[in-house]
Amino acid sequence: MNNLENKVIWITGASSGIGEALAYAFNREKAKIIISARRTDELTRVKKNCQNPELVSILQLDLSKHQELEFKAKEALSIFNGIDVLINNGGISQRALAAETKIDIDKRIMDINYFGSIILTKNILPTMLEKKSGSIVSITSLLGKFGTAYRSAYAASKHALHGFFDSLRSEVYQQQIQILLVVPGFIKTNVSINALSADGSPTNTMDPGQENGMLPEKLAYKIIEAIKTNKEEITVGGKETMGVLLKRFVPGLFSGMIRKQKVR
Ligand SMILES: NC(=O)c1ccc[n+]([C@@H]2O[C@H](COP(=O)([O-])OP(=O)(O)OC[C@H]3O[C@@H](n4cnc5c(N)ncnc54)[C@H](OP(=O)(O)O)[C@@H]3O)[C@@H](O)[C@H]2O)c1
Repeated sequence: MNNLENKVIWITGASSGIGEALAYAFNREKAKIIISARRTDELTRVKKNCQNPELVSILQLDLSKHQELEFKAKEALSIFNGIDVLINNGGISQRALAAETKIDIDKRIMDINYFGSIILTKNILPTMLEKKSGSIVSITSLLGKFGTAYRSAYAASKHALHGFFDSLRSEVYQQQIQILLVVPGFIKTNVSINALSADGSPTNTMDPGQENGMLPEKLAYKIIEAIKTNKEEITVGGKETMGVLLKRFVPGLFSGMIRKQKVR
């Protein structure tokens, strides 16, 4: 898909951070975009800040309200008559020890990051299979490749996305559907501020990793390049991304290193 003009892109989690940067980047390419999240006021702000706001449609949704998502997907499909690219970006992180995290919070993180994304995917996929084209992009994390302390549910949800979408890629290859997994390192957004503590309240703390992280605009550019060049997976960030290679090739050494990292 090397020309995005007039293509229809549905972005979840578009009210801030990476999703917001993606909205501006796709809009500059003159794609038609549907932007989704829970906060309509923030989505309205993003639409107003777009270069071509006439190409932007707002569709409010909550990824944890699973019974509503089939209808939301139908609505999304009807806005511009189909979806060419679904971007599963909406998500929530965690800053809490596994032993102290209530199981309801584990389930909430899984419901938003994993089940919310795959329910939307399953509702859009048949239309892509029928026309034998489309891209499904999921923003996972380095925590989809390894775990650290304070992120047990978050890492589980992101690992689950890798398992699901790697399998799906094999199933839809013949129908020319791109399955792209985006594995970001530290990106400068509010993700740590919004991360859930053990009782489910937001931590309200900007972590140094995010504070000094890559700008979301740079990641958005790389995601668009990866869509245009039909990539299967990209890892984007600073030196923290070395963790993927260390975990794979020297797992014992990596295990010793990762438990000493200050992750909270
Ligand atoms: N920033 C990083 O360092 C980093 C690294 C790796 C991966 N990621 C991933 O990147 C994605 C985007 O995060 P971000 O960094 O841009 O953080 P962010 O600024 O906190 O954005 C998260 C987005 O997800 C939406 N969201 C949260 N809960 C939702 C729900 N229940 N239903 C619908 N939308 C929901 C939020 O919108 P509302 O609050 O309006 O619903 C917001 O638009 C996440 O999946 C995150 O795990 C981020």
